This record gives sequence, structure tokens and C-alpha cells, in this order.
Amino acid sequence: MQKSAHKRGQLLGVLAASLVLAFSPLVNASTPAPSAALVKYDYDQDIFHPVYAKNGMVAAEQELATRVGVDVLKRGGNAVDAAVAVGFALAVVLPNAGNLGGGGFMMLHDARSGKDIALDFREIAPVRASRDMYLDDKGNVADGRSLYTHLAVGVPGTVAGMEYALKQWGSMKLADIIAPSIKLAEEGMPVSVTLAKMLQVEKDNLGKWPGTRAIFFRNGEPLKAGDRLVQKDLAKSLRLLAKHGSKVFYQGEIGDKIVAEMARHGGLISKDDLRNYKVEQREPVSGDYRGYKVVSMPPPSSGGTHIVQILNMLERYPLAQYGANSAQTIHYLAETMKLAYADRAEYLGDPGFVKVPVRGLTAKRYADELAARIDPQAVLPASAIKPGKPQPYESDQTTHYSVVDSKGNAVAVTYTLNLNFGSGIVAEGTGILLNNEMDDFSAKPGVPNAYGLIGGDANAIQPGKRPLSSMSPTLVLKDGKPWLVTGSPGGARIITTTLQTIVNAIDFGMNPAEAAATPRVHHQWLPDELRVEKGLSPDTLAILRQQGYKVAVKPTMGRTQTIQVRPDGLYGFSDPRNPDGATLGY
Ligand code: GLY
Repeated sequence: MQKSAHKRGQLLGVLAASLVLAFSPLVNASTPAPSAALVKYDYDQDIFHPVYAKNGMVAAEQELATRVGVDVLKRGGNAVDAAVAVGFALAVVLPNAGNLGGGGFMMLHDARSGKDIALDFREIAPVRASRDMYLDDKGNVADGRSLYTHLAVGVPGTVAGMEYALKQWGSMKLADIIAPSIKLAEEGMPVSVTLAKMLQVEKDNLGKWPGTRAIFFRNGEPLKAGDRLVQKDLAKSLRLLAKHGSKVFYQGEIGDKIVAEMARHGGLISKDDLRNYKVEQREPVSGDYRGYKVVSMPPPSSGGTHIVQILNMLERYPLAQYGANSAQTIHYLAETMKLAYADRAEYLGDPGFVKVPVRGLTAKRYADELAARIDPQAVLPASAIKPGKPQPYESDQTTHYSVVDSKGNAVAVTYTLNLNFGSGIVAEGTGILLNNEMDDFSAKPGVPNAYGLIGGDANAIQPGKRPLSSMSPTLVLKDGKPWLVTGSPGGARIITTTLQTIVNAIDFGMNPAEAAATPRVHHQWLPDELRVEKGLSPDTLAILRQQGYKVAVKPTMGRTQTIQVRPDGLYGFSDPRNPDGATLGY
């Protein structure tokens, strides 16, 4: 049902787009041409087409949540109102990543002031957390402790972040924003094939906890496609939030239940941890790329910093001439990616605890220095950059959504429980799944985390510190106004997925649908592997292997939710890698 509705939405979008392109002055002809992008966006040549809307648009990973957001826009709410509503709705309808018990980031363009704002509602380490809490007696990282135990849970930030955004930039009441989510939780929704598959994959982690089983299992087995997922306790928690605001989460009934859950199972989060949680409003990290301004998330995300750093290196290469996914383009993508990921391991952490040289890392001059090491053909071995130990574990989690309203406001949100369903633990009586974000710290500097990412001392565990993230909600601006609103889940691959969405739009002139459908590549320095999606030509792969790349064709990477603002309206697309996603507008 969701799939066909989604398809219907996309089809309507295509129809609308074709009508607009047929009866309005040609977008291409009427627009100045600062880059290949506007020149090449051509309805007749494109195989995949975005959804079109005139006034407002939401792109999210679950259609029911998208609809909640679009309804808010239609009722006169602005992009922040809609984004907060979608945030609460995804906590119900996308339980593997949407959340109340996790954290994340919001990038916002406020049309009134013209300002770009980065909102940080990332989880923080409890006060009782300590640097070696995940090490066993022998000093080795204890298996699973940072992932599937109560010790894995960071102090959640989502509820505080959503409320903060609504108070600062929204126009509607929290109770009205949350109302549709209460209904969704109470009345339930059919489990999709995608959700059923994820529940099956995580069966053992979820099945350990009676509170989790009670929601997501029936007759001892995870819910199957077509079963109804009803979340009565979550509805009750949402009702409390609608009535009392975030106070009930951080200093009231919900918080008490989270603390009790921790106390029963040796977790660390205390009442003080919850009471002291603070949202941070930060200066975004930004850079120029071929006449566009790229604005993204600063530390404690590594995303924005490395997207800008890689774009600075890429700018010297005529990628449009080389072509999308040609061996030459992929070579430059891979070489620049691995130089950036090596820096990630060394320098990035919570700016409240370590000095992160963001300006240095994103300086054009530094990009010149790094790019001087890149040969047009030869592959720089990972060992020549910096040593480390890879780990093969893979998981694609987190979720991203984008919103644009009729007033020119744009919001990009990426938020997460970390791995699918986080720790798998529901705080008894709340219906709220708790994150396992503590794994994003370096449990032991030099030893990789769940994504194979190496961290240094900068990302070591400290009480009150935010773990390093890759989440990269991003705005691309043209002449000071939003042009592209994008982001993705995907752990370590978030940065490179978002990067390629930008490059596909700017260098190759792809519309959001084409950009999403194009196969992705990823290199994170360690492991020394060029990971690619299926769909690259065998010839290209042969050239890359001949050059010396260890090419690995693996499962898909990322699931973008992108909206492009063009002179005639909004063009958006939900990544086809998740069939539950939907972009809709009005
Ligand atoms: N937990 C994934 C990230 O924050 O990057």
C-alpha cells in the first residue's frame, strides 16, 4: 500500500513537472547559467524525474510522515513547523531510525533573516561515563557493550531539539504539531516489507528485552509485512509531551521511567543527566564550490567539514568534462575522500572538549596542499596516508528528511538512534526506543567503531561530551537562497553520499531524481577499499582495478531526501533505495 501510494506520488509529481515544463517559460532559457547544472537539467533527456510542487515540499523516508509534514505546510505552518511534525511522526512510523530516544542535527535557512543556523541536539555521554568503560580486563574492547547494553545509551537530545526549533523558528503549538503522531501511534500502521526485513535482521537484539518484544513481536516472532504496528505506550508518551512539553521527558514522568530502566540494568543515565541536557545552536560550516555556497553541520559532526574539504579539492578538476561515474571522476572522488577521512580520524570531536581545526581543514590553501599529493592516475595507498585497523561491520541506519516552504525557509534534518532500532531497548512503559550512540565514540582510540571508522583521542569518551557524528544535513545556496536541501543516512557513508548528491547536481546538472538514482562510490581511507554500488559499467570497474583500487561491489549506500528550489517551483525526490520514502508537496 505504501509502495503504490509512493509510486502514485512520484507519478503525480512527474505529471505535474511535465505540465509545468510544457506550459511555463523554459526554466533553462530564463535562468542565468552559472554552472552546468542549470544548463543541463533537461526534462527530455532525464530518465528519472523528480516530484514537482509549487508551494511547499517534504521529502522523508516514510510516506505517512511526509504526509504529516505536508499537512502542516498546507495549514499555514512554516518549514520548521513541518520539520518538527515530521520528526515526531518518524519516531512512530520509522522506528528503526526516527526517534524520541536519540539525537541529531538540523540545518535551517531562515528566509526572514537570511541566516543559516545549525542546531545540535546530539546525545551526550552521561556524567558517570568514562574513557575505558567499554574495555574488558585485558584492555580490549568488550564485544557488544557499546552497542546492545544499557551502557550504550547516550542522553537523548531529540525531544529538546524539536521543542527548541519550534520555539525559536516555528509558528504552531507543540500540541498541534504532535497530534497526528499520537493518532498514528494509537491507531497503528501496516508494517512494510522494508520494516519487516529490518525487524527480522535485528530479531536477536530486539528479542532480548520484554518491553521491546511487547511492541515489535507477535507470538514470539518479529512483526511481518502487513501486520499492524500499534504503539500504545508511545502514544501515551506523545500525549504527555503534547501536554507538558519537553519538561516531562527531561524532568518528569518519562524521564523517571528512563532513569528507572537504567537503574534496573546497570545503565548510567541519571536524573541530573536528563535535567542538564542542552541543545546547542552553532555556526554552520560553509564553503564555496563553483559559485554555490555549501552550508552544513559543524562539529560534533564531521559531515560538513569533510564535505567542504573534499569539494575544495575537487574544484580543481573538470568533473563535468570527465562525466558522472567515469573512471577518472571516481578516481578523483576516491583520492579526495580518503585524504579527508584520514583527517577525520585525527582531528574531529566535540568542540566543547577539543579544539577542532575546522577553518584549517576547510581552507582552500589546505586543499591545495592535499591535492598536490593526488596523481591523475596513480592510487595513493591508505598506508601512505596514515596507519590504522579496519573492521568490516556494516549497517545503514539513521534517517534524513528535507522541507521547503513557500516563504523560502528550508530545513534539513538528520537524526538517529545510531544502528537500526538503536540499542534495541525500550524504556519500560514509555514505548521509546533508546539509542546506542555511545558507540560513535572511540571506545579505544585507534580501534574502529561499528562503521569501521577509526577515532583518535579527540573522540575519546568523556562525561558530558557529544560523540563524533557523520550526519550531514546540508543546504546549497545560490545567491544567498536555498538551491538544494539534502542529506542522507548511512553511517560512515553519509558524508560521501551527500557529497555525491551535491556534485551530481552542480557538476553534472542532474535533477534530484537522477542524482539519487546514480550509483554511488565510497572510500573512507580505512579499510583501503573502493566500495561501489552495482550499476557501474564493467569497463569502468576494470579501469579502476587496473589502476590499483581494491574495488568491492556491496549493498547500496545512503538514502537521500533532496529538494531542489528552481525558479518555477520545487523539485524533490526520495531515494529509490528505500521504497517506503515519499516526496510530496502542494
Ligand atoms: N550514528 C551515526 C552518526 O551519527 O554518524
